[in-house]
Amino acid sequence: MTKLILILAAQIIILMTAAVASPGDFARTMDGKHVGLYKNEKLTHLRVYWHDSTTGRNPSSVIIQQPVFNSSVFGLITMMDDALTLDMPRNSTVVGQAQGMYAGAAQREVSFLMVMNFAFTTGKYNGSTITILGRNTVTTKVREMPVVGGSGMFRFARGHVEARTKFFDTKSGDATVEYNCYVLHY
Ligand SMILES: *[C@@H]1O[C@H](CO)[C@@H](O)[C@H](O)[C@H]1NC(C)=O
Ligand SMILES: *[C@@H]1O[C@H](CO)[C@@H](O)[C@H](O)[C@H]1NC(C)=O
Ligand SMILES: *[C@@H]1O[C@H](CO)[C@@H](O)[C@H](O)[C@H]1NC(C)=O
Repeated sequence: MTKLILILAAQIIILMTAAVASPGDFARTMDGKHVGLYKNEKLTHLRVYWHDSTTGRNPSSVIIQQPVFNSSVFGLITMMDDALTLDMPRNSTVVGQAQGMYAGAAQREVSFLMVMNFAFTTGKYNGSTITILGRNTVTTKVREMPVVGGSGMFRFARGHVEARTKFFDTKSGDATVEYNCYVLHY
């Protein structure tokens, strides 16, 4: 009799655990080591040069939406696939692409909302990305923007970048900007 009750109880438990997933079952607590969290967090400094050009034969970015007023860049939306190079000259070694967009986000100053992924294409960082989302007041000497995340080598990334304009052609709008990125990741 006791044996029968035990068998029945075991069957009930098996049935309960094999039950169809309920709507609340999409999340669970897990061990961080499966996603690389067993290592110590480290700080990586990356320095790259970002080259933007909306004109010429091979523009790296395109204007999606012209500004609302001629007196400011407010409302301008530009999509970019800009080369990131090791050194300042445009023809120096390409280490990745800055893909994303910048949009005029201020009515009374020249300030852009930057939304971009730095997608690295060389060395151990090939295939890894960091995501930058921030405010870029381009006439300021040093602009700081947050690194809000990353992928690959930069999973769980956070940090900031410092952007400094190194070259700007007022006629064409072409620009070269030095990005010093300080990234915490595992
Ligand atoms: C901006 O300037 C252009 C050319 O000078 C003009 O055709 C256009 O109407 C202006 N747009 C606005 C919104 O003032
Ligand atoms: C880059 O361009 C400069 C001038 O345009 C040239 O002197 C230099 O040799 C080029 N460097 C490479 C690596 O092509
Ligand atoms: C980067 O990774 C891509 C995709 O795996 C590969 O095709 C490419 O050759 C790699 N580039 C370098 C420079 O290692």
